[in-house]
Amino acid sequence: MKNKCILITGGAGFIGSHVVRNFVTNYPETQIVNLDLLTYAGNLENLRDIENAPNYRFEKGDISDEAFISKLFDKYPIDGIIHLAAESHVDRSITNPMEFIRTNILGTVVLLNHAKQSWQGNFEDKLFYHISTDEVYGSLGNTGLFTEETAYDPKSPYSASKASSDHLVRAYYNTYGLPIVISNCSNNYGPNQFPEKLLPLAINNIKNMKPIPIYGKGDNIRDWLFVKDHASAIEQIFNDGKTGETYNIGGNNEWTNLDLIHLLCKILDEKLNREPGTSASLISFVKDRAGHDKRYAIDSTKIQEALNWEPSLQFEEGLEITVDWYLKNQKWMERIVSGAYQEYYKTMYDNR
Ligand code: NAD
Ligand code: DAU
Repeated sequence: MKNKCILITGGAGFIGSHVVRNFVTNYPETQIVNLDLLTYAGNLENLRDIENAPNYRFEKGDISDEAFISKLFDKYPIDGIIHLAAESHVDRSITNPMEFIRTNILGTVVLLNHAKQSWQGNFEDKLFYHISTDEVYGSLGNTGLFTEETAYDPKSPYSASKASSDHLVRAYYNTYGLPIVISNCSNNYGPNQFPEKLLPLAINNIKNMKPIPIYGKGDNIRDWLFVKDHASAIEQIFNDGKTGETYNIGGNNEWTNLDLIHLLCKILDEKLNREPGTSASLISFVKDRAGHDKRYAIDSTKIQEALNWEPSLQFEEGLEITVDWYLKNQKWMERIVSGAYQEYYKTMYDNR
């Protein structure tokens, strides 16, 4: 990686911020360019500790903006791309699918085209790494696991847009020989997650004694993985993954939403010195998500065997670290919830 230049898209978001930090810290002789539009989900506070590192650059821009991406490829000698930028929230995709089509599909194609143009004739030591989701496989019944061979069957506008982008990435490999790799991961949890997603939303509501909205009966199942374990899998795949391959990443850690929230309530009762049962009394069953996928669960045998990767943390341990982080970083949460973080961006970047 010495003297290389890696473009990471979506690096100010939840997972991207952990990936950027790993690469900036672990590869000081590699230039890391973080390209992020700073939508509502992007937050430069997530990267404050590394923003002055000599091998780090931030570029604010839209992956679907041809002219901007063209200039970016002229400005930096990009060797590798780790593409995380996306609209990521299923509920938003149900109310506003168009933004998902623009960013997740068109944006990915703009990046693929520029990588192809810029690397034409010399694909050696180049890589387009596309970060995707297990939701492309659709929904499981009570048994079975998603493998890399599971047929795509996306159900929501979000998962359909991610499935489409996965197909396009593979099409550039098959048609033009663009060196690509794809990984599909299960639900992440941990520090820096935007509080529209179940866990940070619930932690914030419990802390403030507000209702915890549970969709339907709370019997939908997700397979949870600590975000730093996902970031380490991404680093390993980027370094050692086989070109053209797909890797599934999961925590082997299935929970119904209701059981998960009960565990969270127990942890928070203890940490906030509340009577047992106080937080759980906030659970409120609400209207179900339209087309709500019943169950996701990943078979990560391939990445375990091929790259020797496995989750480093037990779930209870990861959840406790996560709860502690949100309790300690209340200002981070308050700035997001109040919208004040937009001001931070303005002072940091818009007036430069
Ligand atoms: P996030 O919503 O927290 O972050 C997305 C980032 O992309 C934000 O910083 C945002 O500003 C940026 N962005 C959005 N549109 C952009 C555009 N047009 N141009 C440039 N930047 C733009 O998302 P996340 O949860 O960190 O997910 C990151 C990636 O990982 C996504 O591709 C998602 O599909 C995938 N993924 C997420 C999970 C999960 O559990 N969160 C699991 C598997 C895969
Ligand atoms: O599986 C990977 C996917 O995980 C990623 O691709 C997505 O980007 C990420 O957002 C996540 O999708 P989910 O829809 O599974 O995550 P979310 O946190 O929105 O919801 C988790 C479960 O909790 C899901 O079954 C819906 C339910 N839920 C969610 C919210 C926000 C509730 O019951 N109440 C809520 O308020």
